[in-house]
Amino acid sequence: MSAPPPHRHIRRARETLGEAETVVVLTGAGVSADSGVPTFRGQGGLWREHRPEDLATPAAFARDPRLVWEWYGWRRELVSACAPNAAHLALARWQEGPRPIHIVTQNVDGLHRLARDRIRDGAGGSTTGEILELHGSLFRTRCTCCAAVEDSRAPIDATSEASLPHCGACGALLRPDVVWFGEPLDAHVLDRAFRLAARAEVCLVVGTSAIVQPAAAVATEAARAGAALVEVNPEVTPLLRVAQLSLRGRAAEIVPLLV
Ligand code: OAD
Repeated sequence: MSAPPPHRHIRRARETLGEAETVVVLTGAGVSADSGVPTFRGQGGLWREHRPEDLATPAAFARDPRLVWEWYGWRRELVSACAPNAAHLALARWQEGPRPIHIVTQNVDGLHRLARDRIRDGAGGSTTGEILELHGSLFRTRCTCCAAVEDSRAPIDATSEASLPHCGACGALLRPDVVWFGEPLDAHVLDRAFRLAARAEVCLVVGTSAIVQPAAAVATEAARAGAALVEVNPEVTPLLRVAQLSLRGRAAEIVPLLV
């Protein structure tokens, strides 16, 4: 683990973020690591212990929906026991301010939304900042036949195919509303993310290996369009080349100092 970033770097990042009229924040699994949600590629990462082709492809679901649902049911339970950390909460508080701060996340854990709900605490919010979930949500289902999408937090009973969740409207099998390998992202959500990135004065990137496309291109597109890129990650990523500032450290420690 590298030493904490010097104070002058934190100050510079604060100034850069503080002066921007429009900000896009791109987050990945690392922003939720301090909440106890496993990342994908780091130590103890999900793709170190499981093969994506067995669990996160349309072919895997067609072959063995029970196995795939069992895994997503386990992830739902795991994430349900986790709370937003100081980074999620700081970003949510920042979004309640007067300037539009948009969060584009690759995470399916719903913790940015939960943080926003916690900050508002039923008071009703006035933010213009959006939260775009590029890879979907663990807590939504999509019908494999009529494509109806619904919120869903109930535990998954994967003991048999009949016990798996089925569509209330047409009776067909439901699937998790997440993006699997080989599938396109929701075109509307992706288009919106790139539009926001192209207009942003600053792009803050937190906790992503920045190697999965097209998500990583949200950051590089923002930089190409002229945004200053500020990165928070304990490890070096490919964004080092385009980032104005790379702050080495954990999201929950660094992000609250910035926003
Ligand atoms: P990765 O697991 O690839 O990368 C996690 C990043 O978080 C790494 O760069 C770590 O160094 C960093 N990190 C770890 N702990 C951190 C902490 N406490 N604070 C800040 N950063 C930390 O996860 P993603 O980049 O999000 O896609 O992966 C992108 C996509 O690949 C995921 O959305 C998922 C996966 O396949 C789908 O499932 C479609």
